[in-house]
Amino acid sequence: MNRPYIFCHMATSLDGKIMGKYMGEPKSKLASDWFYNIAFGEQAHYKNQGWLSGRTTTDDNFTHYKKPDLNADAPIVPEGDFILPKKTDKYYISIDTSGKLGWQSNTLKYKDTTATVLEVLTNKVSNAYKDFLRRKEISYIIAGEDSLDIALLLDKLKNVFHLDSIMLGGGAVLNWSFIQEGFCDELSLVLSPVADGSPDTPALFEARKNISEDTPVSFTLKNIETKDNSSVWLTYSVDNRKDA
Ligand SMILES: NC(=O)c1ccc[n+]([C@@H]2O[C@H](COP(=O)([O-])OP(=O)(O)OC[C@H]3O[C@@H](n4cnc5c(N)ncnc54)[C@H](OP(=O)(O)O)[C@@H]3O)[C@@H](O)[C@H]2O)c1
Repeated sequence: MNRPYIFCHMATSLDGKIMGKYMGEPKSKLASDWFYNIAFGEQAHYKNQGWLSGRTTTDDNFTHYKKPDLNADAPIVPEGDFILPKKTDKYYISIDTSGKLGWQSNTLKYKDTTATVLEVLTNKVSNAYKDFLRRKEISYIIAGEDSLDIALLLDKLKNVFHLDSIMLGGGAVLNWSFIQEGFCDELSLVLSPVADGSPDTPALFEARKNISEDTPVSFTLKNIETKDNSSVWLTYSVDNRKDA
């Protein structure tokens, strides 16, 4: 396969939500630890060389909607990708096609895991934003003219970064855009035995205008495991998966 293996690994409530009040319940916390260990633990089930995240997920969890410190008079940066040596074992692959995220550091910490930030931009991103990333010593790659070209991104991750197996880590919009285009091999779902019925929180997948369609996709069950506290881990292969 001339692209990395992609597993979408997500934790949801019993009503299919990926964030919200249910997360504060003790049984959710146990499921969340299981979720972490499957993909990030010392005995992780998956080979996880990096994880892909949508811009909203990054702002909600790491950059907290800070504005980037832009210099409108910055000298014109060289065209193309800007790639520095990796500082940690894993990459955090940040989909930020317009160049919005106000990074403060070129690494981040998620529980016990530290990761090197790799920004994924398109050619519509301003010179000032690319200059900002360079000043922060944050690597970036260009994948697409004005919208994300997933096939090109995966080609670079495989052939430039030599990544064989990466996690599609949400949120809902990012996940669905990869699945719609056939660029997800496996779905790994840890279900907490908790629900909150909220009408306002996103579910596992979400189509977004100009990013993805709502064409149905089917899945084939691979395995089911349970934990004492009633959490369930489901794995599926994705029926429409294709090579890059
Ligand atoms: N429970 C879990 O396992 C889990 C895991 C991850 C995240 N989450 C939660 O999920 C929530 C966010 O989910 P979300 O669905 O609202 O947002 P998201 O998928 O994190 O981010 C959506 C944004 O990412 C960019 N994007 C995503 N796919 C793109 C594509 N194919 N092409 C171009 N741009 C793309 C766009 O950014 P622009 O708007 O800048 O164009 C889009 O608006 C967060 O609160 C997070 O905490 C939960």
